[in-house]
This record gives sequence, C-alpha cells and structure tokens, in this order.
Amino acid sequence: MKNVGIIGLGMYVPEKKLTNQDLEKMVDTSDEWITTRTGIKERRIADKSQAASDLAVNAAREALAQAKLKPEDLDLIIVATITPDTQFPSTACWVQKALGAKKAASFDISAACAGYIYGITIAQQFIANGVYKNALVVGTEVLSRITDWTDRSTCVLFGDGAGSCVLAPVKENGILSTYLASDGELGDLLLLPAGGSRNPATHQTVDEKLHTIKMQGNEVFKHAVKLLGEATKIALEKVGLSWKDIDCVIPHQANIRILLAMAKRIGVPEDKIYMNIARYGNMSSASTATALTEAFRDGKIKKGDIVVLVAFGGGLVWGSIVIKW
Ligand code: UT7
Repeated sequence: MKNVGIIGLGMYVPEKKLTNQDLEKMVDTSDEWITTRTGIKERRIADKSQAASDLAVNAAREALAQAKLKPEDLDLIIVATITPDTQFPSTACWVQKALGAKKAASFDISAACAGYIYGITIAQQFIANGVYKNALVVGTEVLSRITDWTDRSTCVLFGDGAGSCVLAPVKENGILSTYLASDGELGDLLLLPAGGSRNPATHQTVDEKLHTIKMQGNEVFKHAVKLLGEATKIALEKVGLSWKDIDCVIPHQANIRILLAMAKRIGVPEDKIYMNIARYGNMSSASTATALTEAFRDGKIKKGDIVVLVAFGGGLVWGSIVIKW
C-alpha cells in the first residue's frame, strides 16, 4: 500500500459578504444573538451566475497549481456537495469539463458536511491501492440557494464557498488513519425534504418551502459535540496516538460553541482548533476544505505536524482523518 498525502490545497469564496447587520434587516435577529450563539459575523453569497462547479473550479485550479500538476494529470475527481449544479450529470463532471481534465473518472458524493472527509477517504483508497495516481477532492456549496431566508433559526448559519485538495502518493508521512460513520435513524434531524424521488418538485413543495434546509438545531448540536469527540479519538487510537500528539484540528465549522465544547471533551487547547466560522459561517462540505487550506496558508500546519480533520452533518454522517503533514 502506498503512502498518500495532500500535495496541493486551494479555496474560493464569492466576493459578496452578508453581515449580521444585513440579516438584522431581513429577519427578527441581532448581531449579538448570532455572534454569541454561533460565532458567525459574516458569510459569503454566490453571484446568481455562479453554481457549485464554478466555485469548485476556482478552488481546484489553486490546488492544482500548488501541486504543480495540470488538469490532464488528474486520474480522479470527487466532488462533495449537497448543492449540485444539476441532479445529473454530477457536479464532478461539470468540474472535469471546465478544467479540461480529460483523463479523470469523476463522481459526486453526498455526505453533507462530512463530504470532504468522505471524499478524501475514498480517494486515498484508490491511490493507496495503485488504481489511480492523482486525485482532486473538492467540497463546494451554494447553500444560499437552499436556505429559507425567512427562517431565522437557519438563515443566519449558512454561506457559500469551496475548498479542494490534490492527493497523490508520497514518500513519507501522509494520511495515517481514517474513520467514517453514519446513523440513518437520525436523518430527519437535518434534511432537504423535497426535490428528490420521495417528494418531487410541485407547486405545493415550493409553496411549503420544502426545497430549503430544515434542521432541529438543538438535537443536532448535542449529537455534534459527542460525535466530533468520538471520531477524533477513534482515528487517533487506530494509529496509537492521543490528543496530546495533535498539532492542529480542522473541524467542520457549524457553531463556535460546538467547537469549544469539542475541544474541552477531547482535551485539546482551543488554540489548536482552527476556526474560520466568523468569516464564512457554515459552508457544509466546504467548511473543512477551506479551513484546511487557510490553516496551511496561515502557517498553522508545518511539515511533520499531526493534523486531524473531523466533521459531522446531515445523515447523520461523521468522520475523521489523521494526517502526518
Ligand atoms: O452543519 C450541520 C450541522 N448543524 C449544526 O451543527 C447546527 C447545530 N445547532 C446549532 O448550532 C444551534 O442549535 C443553533 C445555532 C441552530 C441554535 O442555537 P440554540 O442555542 O440551540 O438556540 P435555540 O434553537 O434553542 O433557540 C433559542 C432561542 C429561541 O427563542 P425562545 O423559544 O427561547 O424564545 C429561538 O426562537 O433563540 C431563538 N432564535 C433566535 N433569536 C434571534 C433562534 N434563532 C434566532 C436568531 N436570532 N437567528
């Protein structure tokens, strides 16, 4: 089995910012409530002309440049998204087309906020087994298109963006362990009820706003704190490491209170938990993807560091990855 590492990182967020003050004019909320209850100050909103693949392509180009690879060098493109351009073809195929990555096999995965971690784990298997050499994994979301802008309990949370990485065989270090899990029994806690084969689009589904995110926030919160801690512990234990060995945690950015509670639970100092939630809100699969890119860019991750990626989301799904950088 080959060692597999991340050899390039990239990200893209749309220019338009939506601040808490802007939201105060849209729904009955306040900057004070949003800041103290979530840690979010602003989020990015995609232009009408931009779909998930457009954000993804910008993030992908940066990751490819850092990896010193051309699109034609890619063997595999995995896109994690819950806001695909189209139900089919996959967003990964639209990304392939835009990049001109003619050689690549391309597909999407649906694992909500844990999508980037699921995607990296899948790509790692192909590379470790020698099936493929270079893989691009992207987490990209235009959550503003599935947000109910009249529901203050959800609309203050989400934002748009994309992050990506290129994975390839490496001589030393790389991914040490991965852990994926799910519990479909908890699917109703966080979902997009309509638009699939269960509830196809009708005038009624549109009138009832069933094409927007529905979440039982409190319930999800409780599971999140527990599952993020558990996932981190399991992936570390698989390779004989403990929280003391961690240099940087890149968690899904759902709520600053979840992240602080998780830090306490796993015993990691808060300054080792990378957070960009204040600037971008919750971008589902793009949250861990952009956080990893920014943490590396900001010098928070250095060669030899132990980095833990950990996320959870609608499904429920959760997972973690331990990387020696
Ligand atoms: O990425 C996928 C996973 N998603 C998550 O992890 C999200 C997990 N959940 C959360 O982050 C939190 O549950 C929320 C941020 C969504 C909500 O925070 P909370 O502390 O759980 O608030 P709550 O739902 O218990 O609501 C408390 C109060 C309620 O008012 P009453 O009933 O006490 O009078 C809400 O109506 O806050 C009210 N409220 C708001 N007030 C001002 C809810 N949303 C808002 C708002 N502005 N935007």
